[in-house]
Amino acid sequence: MRNRVVIVGGTSGIGLATARRLASHGREVVIAGRSAKKLATALAALGPEVTGQTVDARDEAELARFFAEVAPIDHLVVTVTGPSGTTPFRELGLNHIQQHIDGKLLAHTAAMRAALPYLPTEGSITLVSAASAGGSMPTTAALAAVNAGVEGMVPVLAVELAPLRVNAVSPGVIDTDWWSFLPDDARAEAFDSIAASTPAGRVGNADDVAHAIEFLIDNSFTSGIVVRVDGGARLGAPR
Ligand SMILES: NC(=O)c1ccc[n+]([C@@H]2O[C@H](COP(=O)([O-])OP(=O)(O)OC[C@H]3O[C@@H](n4cnc5c(N)ncnc54)[C@H](OP(=O)(O)O)[C@@H]3O)[C@@H](O)[C@H]2O)c1
Repeated sequence: MRNRVVIVGGTSGIGLATARRLASHGREVVIAGRSAKKLATALAALGPEVTGQTVDARDEAELARFFAEVAPIDHLVVTVTGPSGTTPFRELGLNHIQQHIDGKLLAHTAAMRAALPYLPTEGSITLVSAASAGGSMPTTAALAAVNAGVEGMVPVLAVELAPLRVNAVSPGVIDTDWWSFLPDDARAEAFDSIAASTPAGRVGNADDVAHAIEFLIDNSFTSGIVVRVDGGARLGAPR
């Protein structure tokens, strides 16, 4: 088993759950995020198998320094998020769309490009898109666009960078800090309503997605796919 995994965006939510899961199964894990405070809290919770550094995945120079310092690595996971929340299309200014592009699509792309010189051919890259890609939920046009962009790169890079494997997970609604733009009561109400219209009968938790990421790292005959982890929400409400 190739052992050292870097998780850019690993200081909270899905990335943090992935770090916890991989470390508990014997992997050496390096996490990164922008906030030193979030990094310190995550490292204290994770224990000595996990190390970390601050890095802004929108900054190519910071990424170059980071990967040179943490190399050699075997697998890259990118769980960086752009702005959270949704916006009606008529109110969606171009500067806001640009923040989505910079915060998610460019950050994922920059992290991959910076990691490439250090990834062995038998390694892997796992990205995180979202169920908004290819969906039709009003007010999610910016999210749909950037996440479709992330998914669109997966089959291309799986062939272009082969035998390095490139995959993604596409989460549905997952209970993480991404939803902290909603006050607690509004978030609980939204989650209840989403759970009722989801075949699995609940919203997801971060480890549901971490489990799929672990599979994509472990399974050396899997490349160019997007694994949906959405409780069946794309299929519509149970009848
Ligand atoms: N939660 C959901 O319902 C859901 C659904 C579908 C898809 N997703 C996707 O899942 C991924 C993980 O989201 P999450 O729910 O786990 O959110 P989260 O808890 O907010 O975690 C986001 C992580 O990314 C880091 N980050 C953000 N911008 C960064 C940057 N420029 N450079 C480096 N690190 C950065 C954050 O740390 P810092 O803020 O300190 O940088 C944090 O560690 C995202 O791509 C998100 O779009 C989430």
